[in-house]
Amino acid sequence: MVHHHILILAAGEGTRMRSSLPKVLHPVASWPMVRHVHNAATQLDDANISFVIGAGADLIKKAISAFAPEANFFEQKERLGTAHAVLSAREFLKDSNGVLLIVFGDTPLLKAETLHNLSNEIQNGASVAVLGFEANNPFGYGRIVVNNGMVEAIVEEKDASESIRKITLCNAGAMAIKASNALELLEKIDNKNAKNEYYLTDIVKIARAQNLKVAHVVGKASEAFGANNRVELAELELLFQVEKRETMMLAGVSLIAPETVYFAADTQIAQDVTIEPNVVFGEKVTIETGAIIHAFSHIEGAYVGKGASVGPFARLRPGTVMQEKSRIGNFVEVKNTQISKGAKANHLTYLGDAFVGENANIGAGTITCNYDGFNKFKTHIGAGAFIGSNSALVAPVSIQDGAIVGAGSTLTQDVPENAIAVARGELRVKEGAAIKFRDVKRKK
Ligand code: UD1
Ligand code: MG
Repeated sequence: MVHHHILILAAGEGTRMRSSLPKVLHPVASWPMVRHVHNAATQLDDANISFVIGAGADLIKKAISAFAPEANFFEQKERLGTAHAVLSAREFLKDSNGVLLIVFGDTPLLKAETLHNLSNEIQNGASVAVLGFEANNPFGYGRIVVNNGMVEAIVEEKDASESIRKITLCNAGAMAIKASNALELLEKIDNKNAKNEYYLTDIVKIARAQNLKVAHVVGKASEAFGANNRVELAELELLFQVEKRETMMLAGVSLIAPETVYFAADTQIAQDVTIEPNVVFGEKVTIETGAIIHAFSHIEGAYVGKGASVGPFARLRPGTVMQEKSRIGNFVEVKNTQISKGAKANHLTYLGDAFVGENANIGAGTITCNYDGFNKFKTHIGAGAFIGSNSALVAPVSIQDGAIVGAGSTLTQDVPENAIAVARGELRVKEGAAIKFRDVKRKK
């Protein structure tokens, strides 16, 4: 198995994002941009991944460690160019075994397959392999100069002649280098150019001067796209969603109005699930076969079992587990709660920190009062229990299997199995009193 060292560059300032959040942490499909790149890198064999960070180092370290606990970090103290960024990780470059890949942390649409292709070029004898794409508008990108199939140089926009500017094969940024050559080649890069920066791209002409082979792989233009501002961030989001919707539909998920459904990077949906218009998925959602998600639902951190029904206008928050054929209806919010097989809460309800047993029925307007302003408490609702409409279940409280709670109850005590509990003010009916009341009012 080939060993892969992957260095993700994430030291950029991102000034044009106008944000206190470092650029690479801005999300695309609910994941920080840099997590998409990391995820692609993890798909390479024997992957050892490190990050070069600079601006906002502490925030970035914390955010990255949350999804990549084993990651190494190198700090680039000043921003002197992409080659300088790579050399900030000198220790990482000393391992001369296998393939070194360098990728940009703000290109979330970069594909694992493309990284494989770059690595293969090195395994097939190239010393350097660069990622190119055909640009409609090449302005601003480095141009890849190819001669007889060999890459001879990458020339940055500001250093390019008129004729080189006409080249439309552009440098996407990602690059593979034979690890045993890497440090020696990188150390030869200088900053004698229009920007006085250490250009990583200069490695090409240095390798060619030593008669080493430089290959190129052609990827999609989107793989080169980064976000310098929030307009570009929204463009990346759109590109991601368009592709994800298509992947979902081709995998057997029905989207009635695909352009109105938003997925997270990790959304898992089985075949024969139908998703109606205007549904938003946050992170960590799994939906099993035969389930239906009705219009205008918001779902995050939830598991929706086989044949279950959600919405319209439902909100599933983290920790929601809906078992087979359970139902959560309109204007129902669920958090950290199991809805067991066949149970239903069809209207206007809040279920938080609760357990709902099989086939239980939760009436309209039921609220689990799970929070006293300081602590959270649990509500247990047993199998086959029936909770009448407009009930307040003051946790901690347990309603045992088969019990019935009368509508309008405020429940502060446990209810035993198969009991009926009613906790509401006594009803008084005064015959004819309405007539008397109106007479009094009219005389005033
Ligand atoms: C780079 C390429 C260019 C390519 C383009 C694709 C070089 C010299 N040029 O240009 O050929 O067409 O990307 O988008 O490599 N970074 C650091 N430290 C630095 C400088 C950059 O970490 O000192 C990181 C940035 O955070 C970013 C990446 O490196 O993730 C690329 O830097 P950027 O300044 O965007 O390079 P470009 O000028 O776009
Ligand atoms: Mg750039």
